[in-house]
Amino acid sequence: MKKVYIETYGCQMNVADTEVVFAILGKAGYARTEDIAGADVIMANTCSIRDNAEQRIWGRIDQFQKQRTERPGTRVGILGCMAERLGGKLLESGKVDFVAGPDAYRTLPRLLADVEDGHPRAEVELSREETYGEISPVRIDRNGVSAFISIMRGCNNVCSYCVVPYTRGAERSRDWHTIVKEACECAEAGYKEVTLLGQNVDSYRCGDIDFAKLLAMVAEVSPSLRVRFSTSHPKDISDRLILTMAAHPNICRHIHLPVQSGNDRILEKMRRRYDRAWYLERVSKIREVMPDCGISTDAIVGFCSETEEEFRDTLSLFEEVGYDSAFMFNYSERPGTLAARNYPDDVPQDVKTRRLEELISLQNRLSLESNRRDLGKVFEVLVEGPSKKNPAELCGRTGSNKMCVWPDSTHKAGDYVRVMVLDCTQATLLCKLVKDI
Ligand code: SAH
Ligand code: SF4
Ligand code: F3S
Repeated sequence: MKKVYIETYGCQMNVADTEVVFAILGKAGYARTEDIAGADVIMANTCSIRDNAEQRIWGRIDQFQKQRTERPGTRVGILGCMAERLGGKLLESGKVDFVAGPDAYRTLPRLLADVEDGHPRAEVELSREETYGEISPVRIDRNGVSAFISIMRGCNNVCSYCVVPYTRGAERSRDWHTIVKEACECAEAGYKEVTLLGQNVDSYRCGDIDFAKLLAMVAEVSPSLRVRFSTSHPKDISDRLILTMAAHPNICRHIHLPVQSGNDRILEKMRRRYDRAWYLERVSKIREVMPDCGISTDAIVGFCSETEEEFRDTLSLFEEVGYDSAFMFNYSERPGTLAARNYPDDVPQDVKTRRLEELISLQNRLSLESNRRDLGKVFEVLVEGPSKKNPAELCGRTGSNKMCVWPDSTHKAGDYVRVMVLDCTQATLLCKLVKDI
């Protein structure tokens, strides 16, 4: 059996896709390996979201050449968003034998056979229908506790800075029957948590089933299966969804609600299609219905023409919401996007970097304040495994998605435990075990 090694970059959707690729290749007679030195086929499932993501992958492609020269016949392939964006250009580099975009994974067995015949190939056609709906993914065992379930592909929003609509194509929802079936299979296989994935889960639709209904069906698979989801778009997150979360104790109280900017002119230019007031109203609604709900976000600083004052609006919005955590980025121009075609990338690099540092240090304080508010509280936590820093301690997350660590020699990954928060850092709640559930 030929052995396949895959490295996965980018978002959780890529992790889910790598699991689909292993399923497709497994059926075609390929075995999975985690050892690059013994692999017959080496692939990288790639990300194009920012320029530095692509630069990092070019660096990896250079390193793969070592395997190609040491063991002639080893094939190197590029999957994912960078494959879609660059297609044949990757082949022209002479460093890659095949390229497959996100909707072309069913063609991989044929592609690999062609490559054996000495024909480098790129398959990057996007599809309006492909969802890999009926394929049962081969889980990349991260901890055996938590699984990703992809519920839709592509994106129709076309935010002006974003490459995803070009690399992943039009939005399409996967048939709900196959999603619920996959959640049942996860529960039967011993998984304790599933995360439903899409670029904009709130616009999921399959016949009469919208995202709130889908979420309820998945939550009803088993009371001991935790359900998470990502990503919500502020313009689409509905009251029905918030009420559905509140009605199901096993839907985790955490919403990732990327704001991108706190300034209305910039939001408009980003084509986010909400304004600051709308966003803050959605946050109030979430907190009114679920006061204990964790809220995290993404933000971009230094978007085209962003002034200092406009950047300050992002700072003040962070302060006003008091996020539990956030991912923050410098704007990176992506070729072909609306912003790249219409607006100059005119905020100097040093200004972007300084703004990013300022936002990160604000969020560090907000994360610490958020964790301090949890001192003395008791949480139900799903054990993920030993803590990375101290093997005598276990780690796991609260429903609100905060990482906890506590001394424990009796439990194991997949158990639910109750812990009390004694102390905290900005990133972690330091706890003690209270009692079993
Ligand atoms: N679908 C999600 C976002 C997916 S991309 C949503 O709409 O919220 C993840 C994050 O990467 C985005 O939220 C944004 O903050 C960031 N991002 C996307 N394009 C970017 C770019 N060109 N430069 C910098 N950050 C970007
Ligand atoms: Fe990109 Fe916007 Fe779609 Fe998110 S919603 S993937 S930011 S285009
Ligand atoms: Fe990156 Fe593609 Fe995900 S660009 S963030 S891997 S959808």
